[in-house]
Amino acid sequence: MKVLVSDRLSEQGIEILKKAGDIGVEVKTGLTAEQLIAEIPKYDGLIIRSATKVTANIIEAAKNLKVIGRAGIGVDNVDVDAASRKGIVVMNTPEGNIITTAEHAIAMMLSLARKIPQANASVKGKKWERGFMGIEVYNKTLGIIGLGRIGSIVASRAKGLSMNVIASDPFISKERASNLGVEVVELSELFRRSDFISIHTPKTSETTYLIGEKEFAMMKKGVRIINCARGGIINEKALYKAIKDKIVAGAALDVFEKEPVSPDNPLLELDEVICTPHLGASTDEAQENVAIDVAEQIVDFFKKGQIRNAVNVPSISAELLSKIQPYLTLGEKLGSFHAQLIEGGVKEIMVKYSGDIVNLSVKPITISIIKGFLQIFVGEGVNMVNAPFIAKERGIEVVETTTSELHDFASLVSVTVKTEKEERLIEGTIFGKNDPRIVRIDEYWVEASPSGNMLLFSNIDTPGVIGKIGTMLGSDNINIAGMQLGRNKPRGNAVSIVNVDSPIPDETLSKIRAMSNIIYAKMIRL
Ligand code: NAD
Ligand code: MLT
Repeated sequence: MKVLVSDRLSEQGIEILKKAGDIGVEVKTGLTAEQLIAEIPKYDGLIIRSATKVTANIIEAAKNLKVIGRAGIGVDNVDVDAASRKGIVVMNTPEGNIITTAEHAIAMMLSLARKIPQANASVKGKKWERGFMGIEVYNKTLGIIGLGRIGSIVASRAKGLSMNVIASDPFISKERASNLGVEVVELSELFRRSDFISIHTPKTSETTYLIGEKEFAMMKKGVRIINCARGGIINEKALYKAIKDKIVAGAALDVFEKEPVSPDNPLLELDEVICTPHLGASTDEAQENVAIDVAEQIVDFFKKGQIRNAVNVPSISAELLSKIQPYLTLGEKLGSFHAQLIEGGVKEIMVKYSGDIVNLSVKPITISIIKGFLQIFVGEGVNMVNAPFIAKERGIEVVETTTSELHDFASLVSVTVKTEKEERLIEGTIFGKNDPRIVRIDEYWVEASPSGNMLLFSNIDTPGVIGKIGTMLGSDNINIAGMQLGRNKPRGNAVSIVNVDSPIPDETLSKIRAMSNIIYAKMIRL
């Protein structure tokens, strides 16, 4: 395995990669986009911070790339959709720099309140100006937008400064907020009440320009605003105007719409604005943490198949992997079985989990079902990352449900596929610790081991059918390894799965289909 580190990464991280043994590490920083396009085909893994922009062109050129590890949180420098479509896992390190960044936001808030950067510049400019009048943060209201990992730490630090903390976050429960001692309010109320506003949301299509002219107009006069999240969450033109209009008394910016910030950015002219060059995560501790985290994640990915902190595929820890591995195998087989059985354009795949399995994270199992299903049509290029994408692109809706309903089995995975022509059900379970079984095909209960070459056929349950099929397979030199039969009632309809030692040629299959009392016959290979 070859891993390219294309941004500066703490030595501790590089050491972990080197010690992993069979991972070859190369550090090449400062590459242009063209140089990276030329280099990337050689590598299986790429580790970046924020400088490398992993565009669709780079992903297109990445013939062997399996994983991109971002030492840090924001993955807005990676075209995650392009990576997902190509089956490349994108991971970040969501914990390593959160304390550092929260501390930076608090430092920016205090600097803003007491005009420390302005006063520092004045004294170093050989002046002794004592007019830098500030305000206390004590008893002031801090409005936090985005009460996630960093926002929560900012909240607890601000409470230590005796501030009243309110927050707006549509995805946070009232309970979590009240545990933090934070009142959750609507964004408009936060704007109305806050003396300081600190932004801690990710940059998404919803949060781009979350704060513009209309929002500034709602704010308390004299508000001070801090952005250590991402540039472009605040509209910079609107911020400039709000400062000029005396709505905003000060802004502390670590991040900008365009980075590196343009020297012509008018915000840099304003005394009310203090800035740092995207230093939120720049401490020795944070850079060590993220380097170690990303290196360990990449090593575990290549050596143990573990996926941690991926932003485009559900995470599978070592503990979860050991529990769900048999179900991942079963899922892939159920998907593949279905794909070889079903006829007509596929519209929907419905996956229902019942029994003990619902206590585990089942999302990866659903993805393995889709992967197994699509591999029959798309080939080996399908993996756990791009399977949901490919399904969506093909207009296949995937519905996942769980139920605590009890069955004859401790856990049951039911997969129904709907096409323009038919709807079919296959159910499977795990016997013992890791022995997958198909236990139902449509209305028929069976107990088949889903592996190797199988003849699946349905017939009208009359004497002689199975004997004739056995004779026909024998005369065509096909050895039977095992057989399972399920029927709805005596002399009703039946389904049989015959495990055979070699694939059944089309001519044999045609002869079976032509036999009287046969409803359908399919060759399945798992
Ligand atoms: P997080 O995912 O833990 O928290 C983000 C929170 O924002 C979540 O609780 C989410 O529910 C909330 N949110 C999403 N959309 C929202 C909206 N429209 N309104 C209000 N809340 C919304 O993320 P985090 O780790 O706390 O990181 C926060 C930000 O800080 C990210 O943008 C990250 O890239 C940035 N960051 C910057 C630096 C830096 O160097 N300046 C360092 C680390 C992280
Ligand atoms: C992050 O998203 O982690 C930060 O922007 C820090 C960085 O990598 O510079």
